Amino acid sequence: MLMVAVVLPSMSVVAQQKYGAKPLEFESLKEWKKVHRPAILEFFQSEVYGRTPEKQPKVSFEMLEQSDKALGGKAVRKQVAINVEGLPTPILLLIYQPAEAKGKVPAFVCMNFKGNHQINPDPVIIISENAPKGEELKGDAPRGAAMSRWPLEEIVGAGYAVATIYRGDVDPDVDDNFQNGIHPLFYTEGQSVPAADEWGTIGAWAWGLSRVMDYLEKDKSIDNKRVAVVGHSRLGKTSLWAAVCDKRFALAVSNDSGCGGAALSMRKMGETVAKINKSFPHWFCDNYNKYNDNEEALLVDQQGLIALIAPRPVYVASATEDAWADPEGEFLSALYASPVYELYGKKGLAISAMPQPEKPSIEGSVGYHIRTGKHDITLYDWLQYIKFANKYFK
Ligand code: GCU
Repeated sequence: MLMVAVVLPSMSVVAQQKYGAKPLEFESLKEWKKVHRPAILEFFQSEVYGRTPEKQPKVSFEMLEQSDKALGGKAVRKQVAINVEGLPTPILLLIYQPAEAKGKVPAFVCMNFKGNHQINPDPVIIISENAPKGEELKGDAPRGAAMSRWPLEEIVGAGYAVATIYRGDVDPDVDDNFQNGIHPLFYTEGQSVPAADEWGTIGAWAWGLSRVMDYLEKDKSIDNKRVAVVGHSRLGKTSLWAAVCDKRFALAVSNDSGCGGAALSMRKMGETVAKINKSFPHWFCDNYNKYNDNEEALLVDQQGLIALIAPRPVYVASATEDAWADPEGEFLSALYASPVYELYGKKGLAISAMPQPEKPSIEGSVGYHIRTGKHDITLYDWLQYIKFANKYFK
């Protein structure tokens, strides 16, 4: 991931500015690019997700397994070890792509929660050493347990590849004081934990998604100009941040990402900054704690995160029974980021009021829907993402 140090051109303008939880309206594209975008990016890097260290370990790829008879002959399956120098186990990348494709195919890159083998019962999927085992599975069938979240046949049938890695192969989702996963590889001499403005686990996961992109750039069957990053919930927070950090992601989808994702924090609806930092102290950088019960002090709310992805298309989705993620806050964020898209000559969100469930808005470069039901990523959600991606990728 390229994280270039930012020089703020007019600190005085920035210092006086508070963007708040409002529509991001600016005079010109030039002003956005020169003044506001760098300030907002710097804010998310140093105060929210934390910076990604610049020094990068060596990364190499190794094809572990390949078959053109997956999913009943409909797909090609590839399993690739992403070997990161210093990391004890590889990041296992699993890809399904259309078996019969004319030319390069577009792809959805999506991190998974419990291991590649949970996305499909396919018995050949390699189980990561880091995946939950025995007791930790809490009764889940080890293979295919998360299948409802991964409608592979529909995605591959629509002409897309799916490329997934397990979050725990990059960084375990526990507060281990950053002693496992990739953080230690980046410590400078004498350093044992990330500095207050350095990355937490979400930043690490986003880094992992960029390594998937590195592989896809080498795979001649994938069109690396048509790659979308998709994530659900904590991994939806991650997909937005990954798209900010890595412009090679041409489109981003945040499914039910809530607090620290698409939802506005200053509304304090559902999960708050204090609550998320208490339950998941490892997700964000240490500086983010300054905003516990102090959301007004944020330079900008989460609409700023979406605006940083502009002009690339973004899709935000909510679920009616997901009050914890504050659906209205997710919608408003998409709306308030939209003026920045307009500076680029694009239509942002095409609607200005929260739509009815199952009435997606995909006309603009910012898409949105709210689905009836619980916090989850379902076939319905995926079908909307495919439709939205088709507008740009087909
Ligand atoms: C918890 C957490 C959310 C997160 C969710 C998930 O509910 O509070 O912030 O999005 O887990 O990842 O499923």
